[in-house]
Amino acid sequence: MNTQTWINHFEVNTRLNDTMQFTDDPCTLPENVRLPIAASLATFQLGESGSGTRLRRYAREVAPLENFRGYQRAIDLFIVEEQSHSQLLARVVQRLGGTLLEKQWTNSVFRRLRFLVNLEFAIQVLLTAELIAEVYYGTLYLRCPDPAVHQLTQKILRDEMKHLAFQREFLSERLATFSPLGRWLWRCQFQLIHAITTTVVAWDHRHALRAMEVKPTDFRQRCLQAWERWQTKFEKAVTAQAAEPSLPATSQGKRMK
Ligand SMILES: [Fe+2]
Ligand SMILES: [Fe+2]
Repeated sequence: MNTQTWINHFEVNTRLNDTMQFTDDPCTLPENVRLPIAASLATFQLGESGSGTRLRRYAREVAPLENFRGYQRAIDLFIVEEQSHSQLLARVVQRLGGTLLEKQWTNSVFRRLRFLVNLEFAIQVLLTAELIAEVYYGTLYLRCPDPAVHQLTQKILRDEMKHLAFQREFLSERLATFSPLGRWLWRCQFQLIHAITTTVVAWDHRHALRAMEVKPTDFRQRCLQAWERWQTKFEKAVTAQAAEPSLPATSQGKRMK
């Protein structure tokens, strides 16, 4: 994995979030649109605010592997970038007159689920959220006419596209060591977890979707299409990784563990 590229990317990119200025133009959204969107953004704000302690701990597992040297540093910077999203989201929630959350049930379930198994599963659950977030922020970008929401979603969307590539690069190297049956089983459980999560998110954010005149079924459909797009690229990356010549003996031994 080319971790140095990611370290360089996160170091430069997150700074743009820290210095981002939102427009001073007043929010003109009617209350029946503004409040459900603010409440929905507050849930995403909470989701992006994690300290990443357990993810960092898991990342230490792969730190000794030759092909993941630098991954821990990249994960540290990735977490800082997610926290910068949380700060941007908080500013927009306040602009829209919403209330920041300290706890929310889907966020609690998501956090518990993420750390059930291992690093790969933690990244997969994160990835599931990012795939759904891509559609969610894209929908807001297109359907919510507030200029600050526009700025926010444009920036987060750009960042999340990179995050999707970051997770793809990591997981493709890990999955390349699986047997074909193992890969197929991984695909099945990922698809199932993604489909269930999409249904829950579409229901949980139904008021905001309705405010943007988007049917939850259409939102789910777009999420499934986003999953298929990502999965197609991912399978190509896994095949390419699996076809690469063996890694040096020390890292190969650890890869097969
Ligand atoms: Fe994020
Ligand atoms: Fe992300």
